[in-house]
Amino acid sequence: MLLFIRDHMSLCDKYAPNTLNGIIGNNFARNRLAAFGIDVLEGKKVRPIIIFGASGIGKTAAAHALAYSNGLELIELSASDYRNAENLEKKVLPLAKTRGLFNKKCLIVFDEIDELSSKFDSGSEKIITKLMKESRHPIIFIANDYWNRKISFLRETTDKIEFKRPDSVEVLALLERVTKAEGKDLSKDLIIQIVKRSNGDVRAALNDLEMMFDADPELIDYLGMRDRKSEIFKVLDKIFLSSNFDTARNSLLSTDIDLDMLINWVSQNISNKYTSNASISEAYENLSMASMFNEKASRKSYYGYLRYASVLLSSGVSLSNSGSMNTMSQYAFPATIRHLSKTKKDRDAIGIIASKLTLYLHANKRTIISSHIPIMAMIINQSIEKLGPDAVYEFMEQKYRLDKSEVQVISSYGWS
Ligand SMILES: Nc1ncnc2c1ncn2[C@@H]1O[C@H](COP(=O)(O)OP(=O)(O)OP(=O)(O)O)[C@@H](O)[C@H]1O
Ligand SMILES: [Mg+2]
Repeated sequence: MLLFIRDHMSLCDKYAPNTLNGIIGNNFARNRLAAFGIDVLEGKKVRPIIIFGASGIGKTAAAHALAYSNGLELIELSASDYRNAENLEKKVLPLAKTRGLFNKKCLIVFDEIDELSSKFDSGSEKIITKLMKESRHPIIFIANDYWNRKISFLRETTDKIEFKRPDSVEVLALLERVTKAEGKDLSKDLIIQIVKRSNGDVRAALNDLEMMFDADPELIDYLGMRDRKSEIFKVLDKIFLSSNFDTARNSLLSTDIDLDMLINWVSQNISNKYTSNASISEAYENLSMASMFNEKASRKSYYGYLRYASVLLSSGVSLSNSGSMNTMSQYAFPATIRHLSKTKKDRDAIGIIASKLTLYLHANKRTIISSHIPIMAMIINQSIEKLGPDAVYEFMEQKYRLDKSEVQVISSYGWS
């Protein structure tokens, strides 16, 4: 593992499609975009488009391919640009009103228009509306959530094109093609597992594939931990948001999440979700009994106790709430697995590392911190054992431009 020092381009970059035909799945969306491109080249006035859909399925890539294959100059804007109305008015609006360099037609892309929407400035809304009216160049907006209220002002004035997750056969074919082109030898079984885990997220699939090029096949199991988090959230929802004995209890029956881990999660989140003191203290009482039975079960190897533990943990905590509930707050990571909380210095360091990695992994910082870095930590630690630290530091330097101290920060980071 980690033996090859490859070029620094991630697979996502290297295999980013140059043409719309290279976008897998999404025939309908591709045809719509191709028609849009033809209209633009013919000089027709086109209505702005909003592309929307899940993460990692080719929205940005399609906009790039559209520009590239039609010889359009790309003017790409991101969240930080439109939070600032003045910047939009002074810099972008004039660009939109003039001809492109050498008279070239431009394509203006507002990527991730719904990101950071809470900071979306109403001044920007006005200027974007003006820009749509006055622009000489075609405009594409890209969002994950079309129904986000902050961008409802776009609904009247844009045509929408939905992107869907490509199906697994298509993702499999892409991964096989890339594996072959890279001259790698990965078993079909392993590739199928990567495809399944990616759930149609092509970016995740390519990143995982890349990771597996460098890793022992058994590490595939760790990739699965990414899904774990959302599984835990689903169980937490059933415990905290339902007030039904069976719903809460059954949530544990349908999962194999470790009881210890779940006790940690619930413990961390009771005061985060429940608002009345009485509910909070009753929930903790149930939780402490759950924890006691859980310990007894393992100490005495009498697993009958687990039944009590799981009912107290699920329905017990669930029915403790008699007051209102904070449905808006996000689940907090349990302290034991929240390595980020160690010190502010570590937190800052991991933030900087994640920012650097956005260049290579094309995921946002939050996703990198929550799902890529823990996996990297495992791979790094395993590799250090096998190859010694120097080979690993060198590899990380070459591939991700991370120095030794940064690699050490990653290696001490993980879920548990
Ligand atoms: N449908 C697809 N066909 C081919 N490659 C794809 C497809 N979707 C994603 N990819 C690959 O994954 C990379 C990332 O995809 P892209 O940036 O387009 O995702 P996105 O839909 O814009 O996601 P996000 O909402 O997170 O911005 C692309 O550069 C490309 O390599
Ligand atoms: Mg994108």
